[in-house]
Amino acid sequence: MINIGILTSGGDSSGMNTIIYYLVKYSIKKNINIFGIYNGFKGLFKNQIKLLNYKNIFNIIDTGGTILGTSRFNKLKTLIIKKRFINKIKKNINILIIIGGEGSYKGALKLYNNNLPCITIPATIDNDIYNTDYTIGFSTALETIVNYIDKLKFTLIAHKRILILEVMGRKCGDLAKYASICTENNYFIIPEKPFNESKLINKIINNKSPYFIIIITENYLNIKKFANKIENITKIETRYTSLGYIQRSNTPNTFDRILSYRICKYAIKKLIIKNKYGVCIGIKNNKIFHYNINKINKI
Ligand code: F6P
Repeated sequence: MINIGILTSGGDSSGMNTIIYYLVKYSIKKNINIFGIYNGFKGLFKNQIKLLNYKNIFNIIDTGGTILGTSRFNKLKTLIIKKRFINKIKKNINILIIIGGEGSYKGALKLYNNNLPCITIPATIDNDIYNTDYTIGFSTALETIVNYIDKLKFTLIAHKRILILEVMGRKCGDLAKYASICTENNYFIIPEKPFNESKLINKIINNKSPYFIIIITENYLNIKKFANKIENITKIETRYTSLGYIQRSNTPNTFDRILSYRICKYAIKKLIIKNKYGVCIGIKNNKIFHYNINKINKI
């Protein structure tokens, strides 16, 4: 009998529950025992583990957040993992599936290097995971941001203002960049691209519409000071706002649900039942594939 464990870790993303739904569904279908580990890596260390069944996944396919709970467990980086601890986990589960973002992947690699068989599934709104075109949750977060921009413009038009809009993404500018592509009268500032202030000012001066939005990745600069600066230079009233957690907290859209379904099917059929582990799952050119977990050292 195969026993697998699943945990969600780091910032939650829309689609985590859809992943749990499909992993449980396919595991039960294939006679695999599936255990939920609660509260991320913290729960793993506290043995917060429970066998999951159909009842646990009732009504979760379309919900945001994660029914397993999540946490940031920064201690894992430096923690000395005892062999006894790994052996104890292995008594319950043969393979651990870690669902999360960059930090969770590093945690997975550490556990794998301590002899715990692991598989990772990319789920974060940041879209910053090595070797995958998309992470689960990115598309929903992007859609949420774009929906808010579509609404925010009404008040901007009414006042003929500029808005500095800060979005999430950590060190990855995909949310800001793609939100800019999906909307108009804007300029995006992201960590991957040097920011050209005179180009921005020129764009604002030549802007013919009654509003303008500067979409910026979080922590790039102080948006309050930046708004003052833009207002002083352009003499156009400038406001700033940070979209915050609303962009992470939504029902998963169809793209994220379908991606969850495809990745989970792949995880069970191509990896778990063939006893393959030590790998990360990704999507490239619309094909689901896996690669060796050691490659994430490159992140
Ligand atoms: O990694 C996902 C994310 O939402 C980032 O975009 C953001 O920087 C961070 O998590 C916020 O984390 P927390 O929930 O710990 O404040």
